[in-house]
Amino acid sequence: MANVLELEGRTAVVTGGSRGIGFATAAALRSAGANVLICGRSAEALGQAVDLLRADDSRGASGLVASATIDVGVPEQARRLVDAAVDQLGGLDILINNAGIARFAPLAELTDEDWHQTLATNLSGVFYCCRAAIPVMRAGGQGWIINVSSLASQHPFAGGGAYCASKAALNALTETLMQEVRRDRIRVSCVLPGSVDTGFSRSAPGADASWKLAAGDVAQTVVDLLRHPPRSLPSRVELRPSTPRK
Ligand SMILES: NC(=O)c1ccc[n+]([C@@H]2O[C@H](COP(=O)([O-])OP(=O)(O)OC[C@H]3O[C@@H](n4cnc5c(N)ncnc54)[C@H](OP(=O)(O)O)[C@@H]3O)[C@@H](O)[C@H]2O)c1
Repeated sequence: MANVLELEGRTAVVTGGSRGIGFATAAALRSAGANVLICGRSAEALGQAVDLLRADDSRGASGLVASATIDVGVPEQARRLVDAAVDQLGGLDILINNAGIARFAPLAELTDEDWHQTLATNLSGVFYCCRAAIPVMRAGGQGWIINVSSLASQHPFAGGGAYCASKAALNALTETLMQEVRRDRIRVSCVLPGSVDTGFSRSAPGADASWKLAAGDVAQTVVDLLRHPPRSLPSRVELRPSTPRK
């Protein structure tokens, strides 16, 4: 067994890869030589992201890049996502479950729609994608699944009920799956970032966001995990801004 997972030629799916952390992760994986398929719900946003990723070719990225318009919260679409990776990239070695949404409101005011949509994307979507991916990874003899959770999973706050509950449950799902598949040489891990400067939780206009993590910081953590020696498994990584706002 090699000491590190060489990313050159590996096949990776990044959910929610059209912007933010997912886009940065897709770019980092391509720079490392992986073939990447990104998904999201907006075909237009995906098209723009694919163009931007291909622009990296002039800076040495060479892997294939593909996209699929997929809502991960719909089981058949999650299955289609894995099929698309197999058809267009030739397999699936790495699944980055990054797609996520936040609908903030006090629980007494949260709508059914916001509750269900948050859980469908942040929790059920990960389940659907993992369930579809595992048989392919088992057939390939190895795999890596990295789920993008949040420090909010461990630090619930008023107004974040649906989001914090979805991410806390995601941590439990991740650990369960890790125990179920590690003997199949499928490593499962989650990354828990603090505040990241993306459109997801954009600071008020003019507010200083320089203390926040950058999307690329999370992407680097993902790539570092993938390159970790196979003998050990960092199953949960907490990533914090080093000098948070006072
Ligand atoms: N930003 C932060 O401060 C922060 C902190 C901790 C954790 N996180 C987590 O990091 C992940 C990425 O966040 P981000 O900041 O990069 O958010 P973002 O900039 O809003 O990007 C979210 C991505 O997910 C896609 N997406 C949303 N719902 C989807 C669905 N049902 N099916 C498929 N794709 C979907 C979006 O595309 P479409 O809208 O076109 O579908 C987009 O590509 C999320 O899981 C979030 O919870 C973020």
